[in-house]
Amino acid sequence: HGEFSQKIDYVFKVVLIGDSAVGKSQLLARFARNEFSLDSKATIGVEFQTRTLTVDHKTIKAQIWDTAGQERYRAVTSAYYRGAGGQCLFSDMTKRQSNRSCRQMVGGATQPCPIKNIVILIGNKSDLSTLRAVPTKMLRNLRLAEPFLLETSALESTNVETAFMTVLTEIY
Ligand code: GTP
Ligand code: MG
Repeated sequence: HGEFSQKIDYVFKVVLIGDSAVGKSQLLARFARNEFSLDSKATIGVEFQTRTLTVDHKTIKAQIWDTAGQERYRAVTSAYYRGAGGQCLFSDMTKRQSNRSCRQMVGGATQPCPIKNIVILIGNKSDLSTLRAVPTKMLRNLRLAEPFLLETSALESTNVETAFMTVLTEIY
């Protein structure tokens, strides 16, 4: 009924990409439900969450696809990159390898469907400052086609809202 039913102006599809355990699912859990768990299970294939929000007086339904980072799901997950309005590429700032993977993924050599639509590069786990192995400079050195760069923490809720709003605003 009228004032209670929400009219959706746009549906935006966003996809989260990056190595296993970088924190894609937990950053999304924080954004979609304000939840965080330290013993999160690895995603199998692809899962999604939605959150409806207002941007510029329009009601936007964000449909966020959370892909598995484990190599064995690559064939499944890469199919989801294609239709996404925006891609968020993740690295875990405590793991240099996750940053190298980002470079490989944008390089596209081994990728069945190259990643083209990256809106934001996320360096997650900023709360683990003593374990930090990826300085900001190294994130910048990825030299992606100038996406936004944000350092986030799903645990401490740092920049979570900003990260997703940046992507949604950019698609919009
Ligand atoms: P896959 O589903 O296998 O691709 O992994 P994922 O990227 O979804 O990682 P997930 O969100 O499951 O998180 C992996 C681990 O990192 C879990 O133990 C999380 O609790 C932890 N984690 C995620 N984000 C943060 C963070 O911001 N800070 C800290 N300290 N731990 C985090
Ligand atoms: Mg996951």
